[in-house]
Amino acid sequence: MRNYKKYIPYYCSFLYIIIFYTLLSHVLPVSFAGEKDKIFWDKKYETEAYIFGKEPVEFLREHIDLLPRGKALDIAMGEGRNAIFLAKNGFSVDGCDISESAIKKALGLAIENNVKIHAFVADLETYKLPKDTYDVIACFYYLQRDMVPQMKEALKPGGMIIYETYTLENCELGLEGPKNKDYLLKPNELLDLFKDLKIIYYRELVLNNKKAVASLIAKKLP
Ligand SMILES: C[S@@+](CC[C@H](N)C(=O)[O-])C[C@H]1O[C@@H](n2cnc3c(N)ncnc32)[C@H](O)[C@@H]1O
Repeated sequence: MRNYKKYIPYYCSFLYIIIFYTLLSHVLPVSFAGEKDKIFWDKKYETEAYIFGKEPVEFLREHIDLLPRGKALDIAMGEGRNAIFLAKNGFSVDGCDISESAIKKALGLAIENNVKIHAFVADLETYKLPKDTYDVIACFYYLQRDMVPQMKEALKPGGMIIYETYTLENCELGLEGPKNKDYLLKPNELLDLFKDLKIIYYRELVLNNKKAVASLIAKKLP
């Protein structure tokens, strides 16, 4: 029993450290996991070149006319290729990303295209989306499953989600893209995540032998 007691101070210190870091992570704007992502993505975006290009994702270009005009949010917008396309098509656009370099490049792309966007740094692991605010929420090549309920709440009734990202097949086929399975969709997963909305469009395919993706457009019913 005496032996056991001598470890109590160690247990307590361990507990204090856990409590301290939990509290701190609620105070800081970027979580600890987020800090790692921020460093990773800032470094990737450091170059002057637009690593994902300046043109929007084809799926967005092809379906822009289906989307209800108004206020749009581009989640994890990167260098802004999709946000700027939305702005050029008459949307009032909010766009966020964890990387400050990405936000600067997105604002540069907006100037180049003579449009305005509201771009801000946010760690989506901790940022809370405003409710009933957006007519369109766009999410391209970013997967954070626990944010899906918030995305739905952030839509106005009648608003739409447009979403495209990699599936597990992308990794299985050895195509360029993320290898971490946490960031890859399982078969039908994107469909399941939004099944309580009206599905306007859904597909899972390998595009031009280059990438395996799932793409979805879904509407929040009034
Ligand atoms: C593959 S890029 C896609 C960028 C953009 N959607 C596009 O299609 O060009 C993924 C983006 O997610 C952002 N990101 C990663 N973790 C994030 C987080 N926790 N909060 C906000 N953005 C994050 C990165 O900075 C990066 O810009």
